[in-house]
Amino acid sequence: MEEKLKIGLLGLGVVGSGVPEILIAHQEKIRQVTGMDIVVDKAFVREIETKQALGDAFNIQLTTSIEDILDDPEISIVVELMGAIEPAKTYISQALEKGKHVVTANKDLLALHGGELVALAQKNKCDLYYEASVAGGIPILRTIANSLAADDITNVLGIVNGTTNYMLTQMVSHSKSYEEALREAQELGFAESDPTNDVDGIDAAYKMVILSQFAFGMNIGMEQVAVKGIRGLSLEDVATAKQLGYEIKLIGAAKKAGNSIHVEVSPMLVPVKHPLASVSNEFNAVFIESSGVGESMYYGPGAGAKPTATSVVSDLITIAKNIRLKTTGHMFNSYRHETLLTEDNEIFSKYYLSLEVPDERGQFLKLAEIMNQADVSFDQVVQQKSDGKTARVIVITHTTSKKNLETVSKKINETTSFSLENTMKVLGE
Ligand SMILES: NC(=O)c1ccc[n+]([C@@H]2O[C@H](COP(=O)([O-])OP(=O)(O)OC[C@H]3O[C@@H](n4cnc5c(N)ncnc54)[C@H](OP(=O)(O)O)[C@@H]3O)[C@@H](O)[C@H]2O)c1
Repeated sequence: MEEKLKIGLLGLGVVGSGVPEILIAHQEKIRQVTGMDIVVDKAFVREIETKQALGDAFNIQLTTSIEDILDDPEISIVVELMGAIEPAKTYISQALEKGKHVVTANKDLLALHGGELVALAQKNKCDLYYEASVAGGIPILRTIANSLAADDITNVLGIVNGTTNYMLTQMVSHSKSYEEALREAQELGFAESDPTNDVDGIDAAYKMVILSQFAFGMNIGMEQVAVKGIRGLSLEDVATAKQLGYEIKLIGAAKKAGNSIHVEVSPMLVPVKHPLASVSNEFNAVFIESSGVGESMYYGPGAGAKPTATSVVSDLITIAKNIRLKTTGHMFNSYRHETLLTEDNEIFSKYYLSLEVPDERGQFLKLAEIMNQADVSFDQVVQQKSDGKTARVIVITHTTSKKNLETVSKKINETTSFSLENTMKVLGE
């Protein structure tokens, strides 16, 4: 007779209902791998009536009382799939205090309170796993923590928000406007009715906080991530980037320089030859540069019931093995390094600038002087159509520091006849 490992599920929504489905579909394999039967015993829901059919289908006892799960000594793992900070944080904390292992996919909670929850899990010698919190179905956290443990990661570039990647693909490939692309993403169920967290880069920033902790061992706060989303990105910039041989992608970047890191989320120009340029629609990818492996990319679905629930179940299998081997209570990622942030004058990149200038003689010279004074040089300059009064000028700089770029931007903004429309980082090939 196999040992039974009973799960208490919090939330029976998109991912929550996928978990019992995967556990049942792959029961035999899971039994062979863990030596246990992993079953969802109870689910905490807001309203029993609306979830009764799911409860019956998967033979799960439904409850609206959290104590029914937290106080049940037979439940050894709590799987939190409700989302948002509260009451998820309180319930996870209580579960850990009661000695239960926890699996969650809640990136908001982990980015904002991960350190506290990891410490609580340690104190109570419990496991806390959250593979599904970054890039849904891509096993990226376990890959960094285990497979790249012997490597020195120097750069992490991620397309980690499917909604914005879908929108950008539609803008680039089908010349749809930002508004059209957003409406379509909402109709297809990729974007929430309030898309703020996606389009303003906040969701991607949560994931970069978690990825930075795994890749560099550093705990950074959301306020230490420079975040710019895609809201209002113009079709003109998208089209110009394409003409110049780039795709615009919302990139989460965490880069190491010496002992310090810089983490940001912003739309960037990705050369068409770069592997990230081919990641389209709702797909996610994480591109890693490291001293041992070199360049590697992890690609797949960043969301969806089945891919995300599969990641959640992989965490359950890990815990089941830990229980069997009596090795529970170790951190998902035990790499720790003092948190050091790179100064702006040590962050280097090429940059794209689009600006409106009077269509008169001497304007290029004025722009060249501004750039020269800040020690920034032109890699490419393109003048686009003019309405007779103003011309649109696109500049791609040679590699320069973020500080120098800020000086140029400030000077352009001070030049009343110039209007700086957009600046974006340009990735190397
Ligand atoms: N969907 C994805 O593809 C995906 C991918 C990666 C990570 N995640 C993460 O996985 C988690 C779950 O996402 P989801 O897409 O499955 O969300 P969802 O479909 O909205 O499901 C959440 C479920 O939790 C229930 N719930 C929320 N607050 C509750 C409360 N206070 N008390 C009782 N029940 C509550 C909701 O009940 P009602 O139905 O009554 O509102 C709903 O059934 C989130 O942290 C999300 O960020 C999701």
